[in-house]
Amino acid sequence: MSIIVKNLSYKYEDEEKNAVNALSFTIENGEWVSIIGHNGSGKSTLAKLLMGLLEKKEGEIYIEDLPLNENNLYEIRKHLGIVFQNPDNQFVATSVEDDIAFGLENLEVDPALMEGMIDSALSEVNMTNYKKSEPYLLSGGQKQRVAIAGILAMNPEIIILDEATSMLDPEGKEDFINVVKKLKEKGKIIIMITHDMNEALLSDRTIVMSNGEILKDGKTEEIMMDEKTLKEARLELPSALYVYHSLKKAGYNNEEVLKVLWESASKM
Ligand SMILES: Nc1ncnc2c1ncn2[C@@H]1O[C@H](COP(=O)(O)OP(=O)(O)O)[C@@H](O)[C@H]1O
Ligand SMILES: [Mg+2]
Repeated sequence: MSIIVKNLSYKYEDEEKNAVNALSFTIENGEWVSIIGHNGSGKSTLAKLLMGLLEKKEGEIYIEDLPLNENNLYEIRKHLGIVFQNPDNQFVATSVEDDIAFGLENLEVDPALMEGMIDSALSEVNMTNYKKSEPYLLSGGQKQRVAIAGILAMNPEIIILDEATSMLDPEGKEDFINVVKKLKEKGKIIIMITHDMNEALLSDRTIVMSNGEILKDGKTEEIMMDEKTLKEARLELPSALYVYHSLKKAGYNNEEVLKVLWESASKM
């Protein structure tokens, strides 16, 4: 599975400026990519374009060699799952199991297989006991785990997480990230939009966005070393990395200490 984006632009009606402008990148099988950038830099617009929720104005998107257009939308959506920031806006049914079933019905899964798929997805996110619960009564962290279970059941190859942990408490975040790590092990493409730099540190690759454009795209380690780009994008370094950079600037080059700081910054 791969995602190819070429020269992609989008402008909202009545806006003067493109919300995303001339984006080009390729994401390959099994990559965990963070997209970071300050508010309004175009991250969510990009996610919605990839999902076909917004129609591109210019450029091309290919999902596994299939161009994203009206004719292929249904086929392409089978390969994609998305979790949004606000857990309240992503449920359609009145029970957890029905909500997951709804997604499966859309994929025309054999009804006889559904219950097993739902049970196994809920068990992966430790939500088995909430199968009959009403989604709205769950905590934020539980809601996001159910949203992920919905995606696990549908088993898409590409998972987009748009600030999916931003409303979670630290424990909820950790649980969620552990599920994402499992997905990564299964070889999924993970696109994690975040402004939590500690979270971004977990990814293989980071795309930095600013004012609708890609400021830099590279290995996460390289991006986190690039103070200039992060400043330009108005992003703050994780505190341990801030210490790391300060020490380096002061000429302190003990690799052991630097390594410990790096690791503590990326520990979640
Ligand atoms: N529905 C909308 N109508 C008009 N402008 C929008 C809409 N949604 C987002 N924008 C604008 O598009 C730009 C990119 O927004 P967005 O993709 O939401 O950024 P991010 O997710 O990085 O915060 C911003 O300037 C924002 O104000
Ligand atoms: Mg956003």
